[in-house]
Amino acid sequence: MTTSKRQYHITTFGCQMNKADSERMAGVLEDMGFEWCQDPNNADVILYNTCTIRDNAEQKVYSYLGRQAKRKHDQPDLTLIVAGCVAQQEGEALLRRVPELDLVMGPQHANRLKDLLESVFEGNQVVATEAVHIIEDITQPRRDSTVTAWVNVIYGCNERCTYCVVPNVRGVEQSRTPSAIRAEMEELGRQGYKEITLLGQNIDAYGRDLPGVTPEGRHLNNFTDLLYYVHDVPGIERLRFATSHPRYFTERLIQACAELPKVCEHFHIPFQSGDNELLKAMSRGYTHEKYRRIIDTIRRYMPDASISADVIVGFPGETEAQFENTLKLVEDIGFDMLNTAAYSPRPGTPAALWDNQLSEEIKSDRLQRLNHLGNLKVAERSQRYFGRIEEVLVEDQNPKDQTQVMGRTGGNRLTFFNGNIQELKGQLVKVKITEVRPFSLTGEPVEVRQTVLQ
Ligand code: SAH
Ligand code: SF4
Ligand code: F3S
Repeated sequence: MTTSKRQYHITTFGCQMNKADSERMAGVLEDMGFEWCQDPNNADVILYNTCTIRDNAEQKVYSYLGRQAKRKHDQPDLTLIVAGCVAQQEGEALLRRVPELDLVMGPQHANRLKDLLESVFEGNQVVATEAVHIIEDITQPRRDSTVTAWVNVIYGCNERCTYCVVPNVRGVEQSRTPSAIRAEMEELGRQGYKEITLLGQNIDAYGRDLPGVTPEGRHLNNFTDLLYYVHDVPGIERLRFATSHPRYFTERLIQACAELPKVCEHFHIPFQSGDNELLKAMSRGYTHEKYRRIIDTIRRYMPDASISADVIVGFPGETEAQFENTLKLVEDIGFDMLNTAAYSPRPGTPAALWDNQLSEEIKSDRLQRLNHLGNLKVAERSQRYFGRIEEVLVEDQNPKDQTQVMGRTGGNRLTFFNGNIQELKGQLVKVKITEVRPFSLTGEPVEVRQTVLQ
């Protein structure tokens, strides 16, 4: 045996919130003296940060876990952790299902990982799923990128969409204070990060649970105010945010995005269905007309803005005609990206108990038809980039071609061009687009914007 450091491995499933939580938990583990290890089979501590948004996401976790649980029989000092949304949903039941587990911890406990693990190392099997006030974190996250970063602005969700498990597993809305958010962003600016994505399940809800005044005495009541408060953080060149809810999306927010030069012209606004009756059954709180008006307003202020969305097919009771209303919306709007999913009944959600569930055949048929149309429209939208000059923030080398670097346009299209990653990482480069594909672009660099390093 060598005396090298103990090693940890994290596999992350699910959305950006989980990815951000994983980076924070990795930071905690490194603080405790653990070292990252790519291969879970060589790790002493394995953490699965899990997702339960659909059944297939949940099942994936069990198959990963099963393999590691077996390994624990030969290596009893292996520490097995399940964090995230499956942990929250299942709680103690997970221990019954996989008795080899050492720690089951919900997403609200990510910042408490050190305390929880210490209890595990004292010999306890620990379950942490009670609702808590999320504490501000002083540990430095171990971020995957050195160019782009996530910053949470609001945790949880107070909506009650009838299909969705998130409010059950992420708890009620908790906004971070504007000063905590700005301080984290300033630190990122100092470290050389160039792009920040502000995160919340329903980011428009930001601030509803706060007193409304910053330490400087400025009034700050909502997400638009927050954008104005943080848009000028030194060093940060680009701001993005997700996810927006159509029910709360305001013209004032659209104006702010048009006015603030660092805010990227990309909006992720899930619509879920193009049919008003279904939207009502989903408890989404808007109509397809309202959704269309939002997109029209965005395009009035920013004609070239990219729009992406999430949509569900096969919700209980969805008729062919209702599904066609969804197709019509996709046809009319022309999304730059579309995340599609077949409805999956989730434990503890109202719609899962309804007796008008559709068959898997209908769901998968509709999903295919929607994907076909969605992809056609995405390809069409990509065409507009041909011949244009786009600003790309270089993030990495193209893993498939070392002579190329890659990054994203303001509208969030992945773009490749020839260049040296050592020179260009973190630079904003003007690129003439010479090739377009549905989901990515290729171009030639024409100019590098010099950013002043702090
Ligand atoms: N807060 C965001 C999305 C959160 S979950 C919003 O309100 O839009 C991410 C996406 O997963 C959702 O937009 C939805 O399209 C999908 N989703 C959520 N629950 C689902 C379910 N039970 N079955 C299928 N897709 C689901
Ligand atoms: Fe789920 Fe609706 Fe909350 Fe989004 S807004 S996380 S879909 S409950
Ligand atoms: Fe999945 Fe939890 Fe995100 S259920 S989508 S990881 S909030």
